[in-house]
Amino acid sequence: MAESLFLPEAATKAEKYESLIPQIEALITGEPDLYANLANITAALREAFGFFWVGFYLVKNEQLVLGPFQGPIACTRINFGKGVCGTAWKEKKTQLVPDVDAFPGHIACSSASKSEIVIPVFRGEEVAMVLDVDSDQLADFDEIDQKYLEELMVILGKSL
Ligand code: SME
Repeated sequence: MAESLFLPEAATKAEKYESLIPQIEALITGEPDLYANLANITAALREAFGFFWVGFYLVKNEQLVLGPFQGPIACTRINFGKGVCGTAWKEKKTQLVPDVDAFPGHIACSSASKSEIVIPVFRGEEVAMVLDVDSDQLADFDEIDQKYLEELMVILGKSL
């Protein structure tokens, strides 16, 4: 796999995901180092979509601990059921949050963050980590992001 992404210009968001996901799959296939793969996934997503913040929190000793990310510095630890990330972990379900101020218990790592999507990644039945994507615009994520990011996290989960 070449170490550069091909991103079609003037593509719709869905087309961009459709182009990107196989490239990310190729990038992580055959590489056993989890952190290398997580780092490349965050870089690829940021390069393709210019996300304000994109990164992983990994389940370690009953907490979520910050992993590879792109964007401003962030909170390092999140408890089970806390914030959007801790809720995705507890409910084992994607959290699509159009307005973070309206989400009870949202953890504001950055005051610039306005909307957010968090997708759990499963190792078997258990949540191993979550992918968190933040935007500085309200309602910046929709069902298209949810569909494709979930698809990508299934691919990642299978590699664990
Ligand atoms: N807002 C998240 C915390 C992580 S940061 O946004 C990077 C939450 O409520 O879980």
